[in-house]
Amino acid sequence: MDKTRAHASQPSKPPQAVLFDAYGTLFDVYSVGLVAEQLFPGQGEALGLLWREKQIEYTRLVTTSNDGAHYQPFWQLTQAGLRYAARRLKLTLTPEAELQLMNQYRHLSAFPENREVLQALKARGIVTGILSNGDPEMLGIAVRSAGLDGLLDHVISVDAVRKYKTHPEAYALGEQATGLRAAQIVFVSSNSWDALAATWYGYQTLWVNRYAQPFEELGTLPTRTGSTFSAVLDFFPPAARP
Ligand code: LAC
Repeated sequence: MDKTRAHASQPSKPPQAVLFDAYGTLFDVYSVGLVAEQLFPGQGEALGLLWREKQIEYTRLVTTSNDGAHYQPFWQLTQAGLRYAARRLKLTLTPEAELQLMNQYRHLSAFPENREVLQALKARGIVTGILSNGDPEMLGIAVRSAGLDGLLDHVISVDAVRKYKTHPEAYALGEQATGLRAAQIVFVSSNSWDALAATWYGYQTLWVNRYAQPFEELGTLPTRTGSTFSAVLDFFPPAARP
C-alpha cells in the first residue's frame, strides 16, 4: 500500500526522540564474522549469515507460539542459533569456539559515525535510546564496551514484555519509556523487516541500508533510507541542526 505516504514531506514538527535497533545498526557485528572465518576458514560468512537468520527465526518462533510460553532471553536464542548453524554446516563447534564467538558477540564495537551522531542529537536535546531484542545484560555490556554510555537516555530491552520485535508490545516499549507517541519518535534500524514493522507500528523510521540491499516488498517503505546512521540528522530541519 501507500508508497506515496512513505515519502510524504517532512512533518512540520521535528521528532523529539530517536531510538535505535542494536545489532547491526548501532553495533557492528562484522567482527563476529571475522572470528568465525578464523575458526572455520572458508565458512565464516555462511556461518555468520545462518547464525543471524536462525537467531531471528527463533525470536519469531517463541513470540508467536503458545502465547509466548517458550520465551528465552536473546542471549540463549543467540547461542541456540549458533549451535544450529554449526550443525547445519557440519562444523564442529567446540565449547572453546562457541565461547569465543559468543564473547565476540558481547563486545561489539559501535560503527564509527555513531558517537558523533549521538553527540549531535544530545546537543540538540533530543532523547536517545536503544530499543532492542537484546536482553538487558547483553545490551548493558555492549553499550559500555562501545563507550556509548552517557550518550543514550534509554536502553530498552523487549525482555520487559518477553515478546520480540515485531510484536506491537515490543515497539510500544519505546513510547512507554519516552512518554512520547510513536509518530514523535524516529526509529532507526539496519534490518529492513524491523524498519518496516516499526513503520507499520507508527514510528517515523530510518532504514540504514549499509550494504545496498533491496527493501522488503510488502508495499510500505520506511520514512527515509540512508546508507549510514548519519542520515538520521535529515529528520531535523537544517536550521535546527547542530
Ligand atoms: C535487535 C536486533 C533485531 O537489536 O538487531 O533488536
